[in-house]
Amino acid sequence: MLLGKIAGKMTTTDFSFVVEGKASKFLYCQVFHPEYQYVLCQVIEIERDEQTIARCVVIGYKDEHGKIRSIRTPFETGQEVLRAEDAFIQDVISLSDPKYGAFIGKVEGRDIDVFLDLNNLLSKHIVILAKTGSGKSYASGVLVEEIMGKRIPILIIDPHGEYHIMGRPNIGEKDNLARFGLSPKGFHDHIMEFGDPSVKQGVKPLRLAENMSSQELMHVIPSKLSPAQMNVVFSAMKNLDKLTLDSLLFYLEQEENNAKYSVINIIDYLQSLGIFSQNPTPYDELITPGRCSIINLKGVDPQIQEIMVYKLLSGLFDQRKKERIPPFFVVIEEAHIFCPERSFGETKASKILRTIASEGRKFGMGLCVISQRPARIDKSVLSQCSTQIILKVTNPNDLKAISNSVEGINAESEKEIRNLPIGTAMVTGIVDVPLFVSIRPRMSMHGGSSVDMLEDLEQEESFMEKKEEFGEKEILPLIKPKVSKKDLMLMSDKPIRTIITNLVPSTMFMCRNKQEEFRLLFELMEGSLLFKDIPYRVPDIDTLGKQELGLIKELFRVKHILPNDVKEKKVMKALEEKDLVIFEKGVYSLNPDFVFADLALKRSYKEIIYASIDYDKRLAPKIKKEEVERLLKKYVQVNDSQDCFMVKYDIFYEGKKK
Ligand SMILES: Nc1ncnc2c1ncn2[C@@H]1O[C@H](COP(=O)(O)OP(=O)(O)OP(=O)(O)O)[C@@H](O)[C@H]1O
Ligand SMILES: [Mg+2]
Repeated sequence: MLLGKIAGKMTTTDFSFVVEGKASKFLYCQVFHPEYQYVLCQVIEIERDEQTIARCVVIGYKDEHGKIRSIRTPFETGQEVLRAEDAFIQDVISLSDPKYGAFIGKVEGRDIDVFLDLNNLLSKHIVILAKTGSGKSYASGVLVEEIMGKRIPILIIDPHGEYHIMGRPNIGEKDNLARFGLSPKGFHDHIMEFGDPSVKQGVKPLRLAENMSSQELMHVIPSKLSPAQMNVVFSAMKNLDKLTLDSLLFYLEQEENNAKYSVINIIDYLQSLGIFSQNPTPYDELITPGRCSIINLKGVDPQIQEIMVYKLLSGLFDQRKKERIPPFFVVIEEAHIFCPERSFGETKASKILRTIASEGRKFGMGLCVISQRPARIDKSVLSQCSTQIILKVTNPNDLKAISNSVEGINAESEKEIRNLPIGTAMVTGIVDVPLFVSIRPRMSMHGGSSVDMLEDLEQEESFMEKKEEFGEKEILPLIKPKVSKKDLMLMSDKPIRTIITNLVPSTMFMCRNKQEEFRLLFELMEGSLLFKDIPYRVPDIDTLGKQELGLIKELFRVKHILPNDVKEKKVMKALEEKDLVIFEKGVYSLNPDFVFADLALKRSYKEIIYASIDYDKRLAPKIKKEEVERLLKKYVQVNDSQDCFMVKYDIFYEGKKK
């Protein structure tokens, strides 16, 4: 069908024609060139003045070797522009080696199949970008199906635990699939899901190698060590033949250095996670032809997710370099969490992901990076992806990040990306201009659509937390309450308006009396000792006279004294004024808000974990830790201390103040 004739200025990359037929933006057209025969072109804009002019870009032609080529001399004035035939477009965009083609969908509005070259993806990486809920995971699932179909090993980093469902066939889309020449198919035989069996039944535990180099160990430690603590670790490393968490702990226990206690806590914590083991999951079990290994990180603390991704990928990269495992793909969902743009901070996994992005091509380790925040992914990772699948994006910063990093996408395309319907993608890297592709239906079930209400709520929440983490990407030593914010919401019988998360500055003291070692937790607002979440004051015995002390001992023994039995009335009055004694129901007794007996009885079993948290208020200490320590030293030996934050919630109910 004739669209018009070429007129005006033209180059080897673009030209204009006067529209005679029916032309619209993004229409594919073909123009005859005396040297190359028919060349594929595309309308990119239509301008209407006295006449209608269409601006076009030249996509190229297929040479005798099946490669797409650009033209070297421009077309001639007056050359006819024809609507491109489906068969011609198909021929130009088809792969030279269809053996490794991944069928991802059809050219929008046309019956033309679109294939991605898996060989290309393995060496040059792919990125899938879109705002949340616009079909990133759905599209990545399509790619994963194709990769599994070719028996190429694949590893999926799955923070939401949504990929295992690919084991089941997508029966609901049977008719739609048939239109694409496909039928429902579950990939149960290919999939192996790894994760934490205590969180999800049936998953294989993922165990990472406990043997580490000293560099690796320093990298996995989830908090900044003080110089004194670093020294303890380095001296241990120097003296150990084989560095494992066990051997390190054993060594540290023997050390005579007070800085060791915090380090022991941290190593203990790493060990308690149960992810490091002497018998790690074999790399060739994770990466083997025909297998899709899903690393389900749902419910894992974000900080630990980073450590796991770092340790797993650096191990696999090393194995791949030594050719001990076959070439494989890694899919990273929510990539902005693991390799954020540098202004949003560095994670434990940033460096290895940058290395794989830049060097993976040499070793046949292909990356598929997925994110809803293009502006927040490390630019150097983004720029290494030569194929982009872009679905609907509306955030201006994200649009800018895309047009800045993706060749062939400019400010003009931003509008198109904003208006993409769900299921339609702009795909670059196949030909020189972005192709609009209707992503094909899934053969296997999609995770996003099958989660129940509660799970949805949970995902939403963890997503929100993750999003806000960037503003506050600091790792803090925390003592978290047993119930989460979400638990509070679910358990409350009154509607909750909001919950404020406070971080209360606190210190854990490692203490010793004549018999044993124990820990005492103090908050630094009032300087109270916390035992089972109840605050207790520690009386300062130096401010008490001999008689006062005697009376306290007596009260401790007998519990109550009747006013008539008090011999030293003045002394009792003084104790009452100091708040140490109360007069209630006609008797004197010790104020239960104070600790009068052995401090070891009020020891803390709380764990300090290292994590980032989305909080509302971080309170400033009102009492110096040194003051508390001075007081404590009157009772016990203080060996070490560790600063931390108690997480406390303020609940505000609907209609009420609190
Ligand atoms: N190509 C498609 N064909 C049909 N439905 C689709 C397609 N893409 C997405 N959807 C629908 O949109 C929903 C959201 O898609 P998906 O879960 O892939 O979004 P997402 O971009 O990964 O979102 P999130 O950022 O929350 O992970 C899916 O549950 C599915 O129902
Ligand atoms: Mg998703």
